Amino acid sequence: MKNWKLNSWRKYPVKHIPEYPDKKELDQVLSKIKTFPPLVFAGETRHLKQQLADVVDGKAFLLQGGDCAESFAEFHPDNIRDTFKVILQMSLVLTYSASLPVVKLGRIAGQFSKPRSAPTEIQGGKELPSYLGDNINAIDFTEKARRPDPKRLFKAYSQSASTLNILRAFSKGGFADLNKVHLWNLDYIKKSPQAKKFKELEDKIADALGFMEACGITSDFNNRLYTVNFWTSHEALLLPFEEAMTRTDSTTGENHDTSAHFVWIGDRTRQIDGGHVEFCRGIENPIGIKCGPTSKPDEIAKICETINPKNEKGKITLISRYGHKNVEKFLPKLIRGIKKEGLNVVWSCDPMHGNTVKSTTGFKTRPFNDVVNEVKNVFAVHQAEGSYAGGLHVEMTGQDVTECTGGARKISDADLSSRYHTHCDPRLNSDQALELAFLISDEIKKNSSYSKNAIQAAS
Ligand code: PEP
Ligand code: CO
Repeated sequence: MKNWKLNSWRKYPVKHIPEYPDKKELDQVLSKIKTFPPLVFAGETRHLKQQLADVVDGKAFLLQGGDCAESFAEFHPDNIRDTFKVILQMSLVLTYSASLPVVKLGRIAGQFSKPRSAPTEIQGGKELPSYLGDNINAIDFTEKARRPDPKRLFKAYSQSASTLNILRAFSKGGFADLNKVHLWNLDYIKKSPQAKKFKELEDKIADALGFMEACGITSDFNNRLYTVNFWTSHEALLLPFEEAMTRTDSTTGENHDTSAHFVWIGDRTRQIDGGHVEFCRGIENPIGIKCGPTSKPDEIAKICETINPKNEKGKITLISRYGHKNVEKFLPKLIRGIKKEGLNVVWSCDPMHGNTVKSTTGFKTRPFNDVVNEVKNVFAVHQAEGSYAGGLHVEMTGQDVTECTGGARKISDADLSSRYHTHCDPRLNSDQALELAFLISDEIKKNSSYSKNAIQAAS
């Protein structure tokens, strides 16, 4: 990698990285973190990249989901388990409809730092620095809480490590066994309109497994039925931390950011001459790039070429997030720009970040219909352009929150205050997440390119 060093990003302008008042303390914390064990192993990251290469080829689908911002307050094994359950359920719905494997990628075990629309926040006439994520400062509206504190990085590392540990146990220890799909249902989903549909799916899977068992194929000897690969991701925003977690793989000499399997560059930090792109071009991890209305197709193509000069499949995921009304205006141009350069990318859709509105009751929310419409519009554009809509990126949780309006339970503006817990953006609750998966599965069934791919994947 030409002229790249672990810290070469420091020579470039960077946005959304806080100034720490005590730089010496920050350096001490970072030196310590450099000695901590990697959270993920280079071989896993390579494995994920291979799976994403299958998505590029239309032989798999990518599902990426989790909190907008993980927090210290919401850290609880039940929350991790329930988010994991919903991702498994959504994957099952999508796998079944598309007859394609689903690559499962959590926005979890490290998704703390947030770029904010304004550097300060005003409450009751008082102005303080914005909340930037629990690994940087605290959400309470006091001067002390809002001061960036390097020690928070230790706590975030530790929370990520234990989150990943339980996720690995769930993924490999039998919890994800296809014979146990009925256990993935969350109590409150059992009463929801999605429950009946999921039950039908459970029954079909039970039939298929019964048939396979009769043929002698059981989870005892087929690991695929018993375990899943579950990968982690977050926005590579806080580069001092990402740098400290980047290690040289002793078997290959490659540099891997071992804080997660996959990291992405946000819509606000993807400047071609900025530090975030510079950092990401030197690491082997698969990289996501958010593409919002301000992104220009030729710039995105240049970023892809800078980060992925060998045009390796699975290295780049473009995550479009235009807002439901803007998809037709922007996405076709981006697809054509990327095609013109012959670049290999996964096309994923984030139907959350372009659809944030303020409710009449003053909450940041996202109408479920707008989320669904963005997905539908993205599918239609890819169908028209002959490209493969291969992924979904959502902010969701396994908790029964009321943060996004609408959905089958018709959450209204007035309902939002009842269980609004997010530390940043509004998330789909598990009911809405599952409903979205069913709606996408309908889109997939309509889309002819999927049936063609499914046949190829099976052959
Ligand atoms: C996010 O994914 O949390 C985010 C901030 O998204 P974007 O960069 O697309 O605004
Ligand atoms: Co967000």
